[in-house]
Amino acid sequence: MSNTNSKFVWSTPSANQETVTVTFEGENCTVPSGVTVAAALLGHDDNHFCRSAAENDTRAPYCLMGVCFECLVEIDGQKNRQACLEPVYDGMRVKRQHSPGSN
Ligand code: FES
Repeated sequence: MSNTNSKFVWSTPSANQETVTVTFEGENCTVPSGVTVAAALLGHDDNHFCRSAAENDTRAPYCLMGVCFECLVEIDGQKNRQACLEPVYDGMRVKRQHSPGSN
């Protein structure tokens, strides 16, 4: 399966690798099935997932085990989802999560 998103690292899943298509910030990304949203999105070359509420700094996954909350994203319209704990599924829509009033 070819990937039309040139920014995405998961461009060459093995021939027998099952894949799903997720949308990140409106861009389709083909990723291996069974990985977490965090693992899938870390393959994307722009890997900031959210911004901190206090300083508006960009944040990215840190612990990858549900402890730090640095990986919060919006999944299918639901905010505050921990990307490191959510497995991808076909058609999933993921957006960065920003604190109110930030871009
Ligand atoms: S990376 Fe720490 S909670 Fe997700």
